[in-house]
Amino acid sequence: MSRGRFITIEGGEGAGKSTLIRSLEQVLEARGLDVVTTREPGGTVLAEEIRNLVLHPPGETQWSALAEALLMNAARADHVEKKIAPALAAGKWVICDRFADSTRVYQGIGGVNDTMLQAMQAEVTKDAAPDITFILDGPVDELLQRRTARGTSDIFERRPIGFHTAVRERFLEIAKAAPDRCKVVDASRDPSRVLEDVLSVIDERVSAS
Ligand SMILES: Nc1ncnc2c1ncn2[C@@H]1O[C@H](COP(=O)(O)OP(=O)(O)OP(=O)(O)O)[C@@H](O)[C@H]1O
Ligand SMILES: [Mg+2]
Repeated sequence: MSRGRFITIEGGEGAGKSTLIRSLEQVLEARGLDVVTTREPGGTVLAEEIRNLVLHPPGETQWSALAEALLMNAARADHVEKKIAPALAAGKWVICDRFADSTRVYQGIGGVNDTMLQAMQAEVTKDAAPDITFILDGPVDELLQRRTARGTSDIFERRPIGFHTAVRERFLEIAKAAPDRCKVVDASRDPSRVLEDVLSVIDERVSAS
């Protein structure tokens, strides 16, 4: 059995990650592929517990950025070990809603040293290196409007606009530094166009590899 493929979807809040993943899953399944969709933080029983603790800290309490980075990586270690690596070994295609780049972006902006974030990431993701990462990118104010329309809220979404601009810039920097792995997609267009772009990159770079 050949190894499956690992696709990660990144980008700020409201960029359309979850929307893209739903349609991408359908298309790949229609091609006869065995597809597993999952998300971070989360994806396993333990990691989902950590997700809840990180995104909704009890009462008025707050994690430091370093504590968040450690929690995200603890969740990711469980997720890689119990779900992602076994699925890839079984020949499945895994699509993950956020992955290690999000930790570098969010906890990096929070002040955690990038060298340390990368060192943690290298260890935690050594059995699950993404074949491709799509970074959904678009003007912050447009994405902000989508979020407001959707009406959900967690500790990362309630930050000021400058924060969301920094998130966008950091994702673009990561993409620039890893052009073989990352593909920036203009997420301000219609969902069908976003999907079309993503599929053409998958056909070109991932299916054949
Ligand atoms: N390309 C698009 N054009 C217009 N609206 C979109 C597009 N993609 C998604 N939306 C809408 O924007 C909102 C946010 O989309 P979605 O939940 O997929 O984003 P997300 O990146 O998963 O956000 P989060 O990081 O908060 O989970 C939803 O209401 C969705 O229907
Ligand atoms: Mg989502």
